[in-house]
Amino acid sequence: MVLSRRTFTKFVAATPAISSCYSASSETLRDAGAKKNLLIGSAVSFRQLERPDYTTLLREQASIVVSENDMKWLLIHPEAERYDFAHSDALVAFAAKNNQKVRGHNLCWHNQMSTWFQSIATPENAADLLRRHIAEVAGHYRGRIHSWDVVNEAINVDDGRPDGLRKSQWLNLLGPQYLDVAFTAAAKADGQAILTYNDYDLEQDSPKHEGKRAAVLQLLTSMKSRGIPVQALGLQAHLHATGKPDNWSGFERFLDSVDKLGLQMFITELDVDDSELPGDVSERDAAVAKVYGDFLNRVLSRKSLKAVLTWGISDANTWLNGRHPRPDGLRKRPLPFDAEMKPKPAFYAMLEAINSAPARS
Ligand code: XIL
Repeated sequence: MVLSRRTFTKFVAATPAISSCYSASSETLRDAGAKKNLLIGSAVSFRQLERPDYTTLLREQASIVVSENDMKWLLIHPEAERYDFAHSDALVAFAAKNNQKVRGHNLCWHNQMSTWFQSIATPENAADLLRRHIAEVAGHYRGRIHSWDVVNEAINVDDGRPDGLRKSQWLNLLGPQYLDVAFTAAAKADGQAILTYNDYDLEQDSPKHEGKRAAVLQLLTSMKSRGIPVQALGLQAHLHATGKPDNWSGFERFLDSVDKLGLQMFITELDVDDSELPGDVSERDAAVAKVYGDFLNRVLSRKSLKAVLTWGISDANTWLNGRHPRPDGLRKRPLPFDAEMKPKPAFYAMLEAINSAPARS
């Protein structure tokens, strides 16, 4: 369902009143999701777990969490012979205590790689290094992870290869078979986790996204046909609010094809960048909420879509201010709760989309 202009205007008008009257008795995203057998949650950075208003919000709103950074190679495998599970163990324990599921992010990526790796890895030993890492990390959490992002962001059409594969360290060392190595090792280490391929720039309407969708589809089709155990697609959904209408037809066609492959789908890193909008807060919040509503109504109409996670829950902790800050210096407002943990129009757009979704089995 697309938000009508009236509902949209209502969101804007209601913002201050809604924020001040919100209480623990309001329906939560978690509870609304539970009614539909849909997991809802967010990425967590370890530091945030020290903040009581944050942990209260996370407990109330999330039925699934994912570590924002702590399970990446750089942090979990800081030296060739040393793993550091302290932070991720703390998150997994927090989740268990609060009856939340955990996504694992991630086992193979070109970014945030351990610095030791480059000096040791060769084409001869790289597959073993990857297998050992996956056996240790996915093995450590065996049976406790809902789904693993086994390979993250393997496609980068701009690199110019016909198959669209990113010219990453992994590709340079092992060729395209590195994905097969990673998925096979993950299946061996944890037979219960749903093995996921995760990527960005698949959702919106541009030639760039369309090209990337085609390459991802080709990759998934090839893996499925060769019996590589990929079970789900993670759509990162780092979206942009432009204030202009979006055409989602290419995205819908892509989702149809992914459905035909029999893969589950997760929204893994949802946020809506407001950089292209003027500074006015209610205007930005309304436009961001509109993208949340339009996007979620689409994906949630498919029963193969089993989970929605935002990349952070409150605007106090978004990665988006880091790399490309707004030109006017204002803080971005890409998430469902504001920096004071109060719900924003995006929260209500999420709630409405979840409540309109069909129940999953
Ligand atoms: C980001 C984190 O949010 C930042 O804190 C970190 O500095 C860089 O990585 N796609 C992904 C995530 O798969 O792992 C990235 O997370 C955001 C883009």
